Amino acid sequence: MNPLRLWWRGLIFAVLLCLTGRLIVLASDEPTLTKEQIKHFLLTAKVVNSKEAKKGITHTLRLTLSAGTVTHDASFQSIDEHKATMQLSAGTELNFVDSYRYNIAAYGLAELLGLDDMLPVYVERKWQGKEGSLSWWLPVKMDEAERHKQKLTAPDPDAWNNQMYKIRVLDQLVSDSDPNLTNVLIGEDWKIWRIDFTRAFRLNKDPKDPNDLVRCDRQLFEKLKALDANALTEKTKQYLSKDEVKAVMQRRDKIVAQFQKMISEKGEKEVLY
Ligand SMILES: Nc1ncnc2c1ncn2[C@@H]1O[C@H](COP(=O)(O)OP(=O)(O)OP(=O)(O)O)[C@@H](O)[C@H]1O
Ligand SMILES: [Mg+2]
Repeated sequence: MNPLRLWWRGLIFAVLLCLTGRLIVLASDEPTLTKEQIKHFLLTAKVVNSKEAKKGITHTLRLTLSAGTVTHDASFQSIDEHKATMQLSAGTELNFVDSYRYNIAAYGLAELLGLDDMLPVYVERKWQGKEGSLSWWLPVKMDEAERHKQKLTAPDPDAWNNQMYKIRVLDQLVSDSDPNLTNVLIGEDWKIWRIDFTRAFRLNKDPKDPNDLVRCDRQLFEKLKALDANALTEKTKQYLSKDEVKAVMQRRDKIVAQFQKMISEKGEKEVLY
């Protein structure tokens, strides 16, 4: 074979090897740890780097943590703001709170409802003298704001909607006063995650947007009905006040009643899936 062709073949082979090697590294970039291992890692791993997050207004930090063979990023949020009145675009909010504590409370509530695979694991950790929440950095392709901007739609609309209906139930339950498309993240295979609950857990007794409650996952519906105030108090004891827990339970009652009404009107198959 002529030497030039041989040289080309060698080059193509080398490029292919590099590409497949890179793919293998990329595939193994996301460590497969259990939830408990992730919690332990977030609580104990050494912080080896920090930088400002690209999005958001509260200047969260993207930390890199390392322990043993695992190195992974995490989002550190230390906001804990309490104000008697706060002027927002939607109006004045009394007893305004913006707190990292609600991230941890939301994760605890999601665990009770079997929705914790839709949130990153959140723990409380002190870093550089500040208490904050630390969440496992997710393998994100884009967020909802970006999807809207690019006018993209998921290839499997049913699978997408089934995830979104669950997010909507969670949103009404936690009563987030900062619904924001950069807080809905999209990963591989159009998997949806919900992050950032620092302005959630308001004291309203009723869901703010009952029309967002369209359908409900069957397992979620059962877990919603079974949600117990004592279990929620126990799970969120350092993060939610008595009144905040009470308000979650009041909204839960309303959400369940609304779905039950819809079931009696339209039939179970139209509402539950
Ligand atoms: N666990 C995570 N995995 C991947 N990306 C994350 C994670 N946590 C935060 N981010 C990214 O960092 C951004 C800012 O984080 P976060 O939403 O918690 O803070 P924020 O400043 O309060 O934002 P907001 O403007 O919504 O108030 C998010 O919009 C998202 O792009
Ligand atoms: Mg945010």
